[in-house]
Amino acid sequence: MVTILNHPLITHKLTQMRKEETKTKDFKQNLDEIAGLMAYEVCRDLPVKPVTIKTPVAECQTYELLNDIVLIPILRAGLGLVNGINDLIPTAKVGFIGLYRDEETLEPHEYFAKFPSNLADAVNLVLDPMLATGGSAKAAIDMIKARGAKNIKLVCLVGAPEGVRAIEKAHPDVDIYLAALDDHLNEKGYIVPGLGDAGDRIFGTK
Ligand code: PRP
Ligand code: URA
Repeated sequence: MVTILNHPLITHKLTQMRKEETKTKDFKQNLDEIAGLMAYEVCRDLPVKPVTIKTPVAECQTYELLNDIVLIPILRAGLGLVNGINDLIPTAKVGFIGLYRDEETLEPHEYFAKFPSNLADAVNLVLDPMLATGGSAKAAIDMIKARGAKNIKLVCLVGAPEGVRAIEKAHPDVDIYLAALDDHLNEKGYIVPGLGDAGDRIFGTK
């Protein structure tokens, strides 16, 4: 299932990020803010469990989240989504997957992996601003499924139809959340219109 989070605040902030003239500081701040807004929607249907608690006034029956939440950013650019979501879910644990996309072949290459121990029982949010060919997200999901993850949501800012189709084919059980579904990929594998190289814009490396 693909959900496009059509919300005026998300769209407005993404527009600021897309602009060529937006510099690192504003790019990161808008990404932080969008991440929080997206998390609110992505978590809308999380299962809860009944609990009995005591307020200063009385005992009451209420609910808490049933599962742990694990955030799994795909390095580097996925790191830009962590703070905004963590502010909303401070109890989330964080795992890391290091992947870079070969500029010629567009194939992902793994260079780092570190996960908390509870992937199997957790709701796992795989984070990456860009879903282009889908190769990186597919590889990341393969890696966490191999470690037992079952409940997985893919949270990206901008997606291309090619990437969405690749994930739907390889991992039909994974829900995909996007702030925008763009038009196509260009000959270099960049999303059009997109926002350029997300990692470089977040970390000021170009
Ligand atoms: C970018 C982006 C995704 C990937 C998307 O990362 O952050 O991880 O490309 O492309 P795909 O869907 O075709 O795999 P990149 O490899 O440039 O690394 P970086 O985050 O370190 O800049
Ligand atoms: N990675 C990016 O950072 N941007 C794109 O448009 C495609 C892949």
